[in-house]
Amino acid sequence: MVQDIAGVLVSQEQIAQRVRELGEALSRDLQARCDADAQAGREARIIIIPVLTGSMVFVADLIRHLPFKLKLEVVSASSYPGTATSSKGVTIHGNLPQSLSGAHVVLVDDIFDSGQTLALLSDLLGKKNPASLRTVVLLAKPGKAKVDFRPDYVGFEIPDRFVVGYGLDYDGYYRNYPAVGVLKESAVE
Ligand code: IMP
Ligand code: MG
Repeated sequence: MVQDIAGVLVSQEQIAQRVRELGEALSRDLQARCDADAQAGREARIIIIPVLTGSMVFVADLIRHLPFKLKLEVVSASSYPGTATSSKGVTIHGNLPQSLSGAHVVLVDDIFDSGQTLALLSDLLGKKNPASLRTVVLLAKPGKAKVDFRPDYVGFEIPDRFVVGYGLDYDGYYRNYPAVGVLKESAVE
């Protein structure tokens, strides 16, 4: 695996530090919502929704910086099937989470590229009447969005390169590489 990586764009240490910061910022946001619900005599419901498969690693780290009573629900989407290194349009697999009504929902994805995945999912989840809907991505490629939508929280802006690691894959591989890196040309079909 490591021999296929041409270079590291974001190191493990940088990721760990930034995920902590994102967790802290999101926690302030969620705490304000919990306080508002408590004022109104309601218990806040928090639901974190990672977009599988790419955000598995990120969400696992992020939720450990969110000291709340919360639930995880998953959605599964793909836009880079197989060996594709550019978006082929979003496909949602399986069912969307039910009963988001009144809940504070946080949608988590690995990377914001064309933006179609998050724009579509936040539109669909928004129709399920959540009390609030926030979106968090670890990475974003600036200037590539094909949609109006922007995520609320972005970990790192990166150059327009195809990256792998920390959950991101090429043809299903390299998700376990602990940093965010660029593949050697010899590893790409
Ligand atoms: P978007 O819908 O174009 O924003 O694409 C977002 C999805 O495409 C992400 O959830 C990733 O799964 C995938 N993706 C986008 N860019 C990359 C990349 O550089 N490496 C690996 N996967 C990527
Ligand atoms: Mg993905």
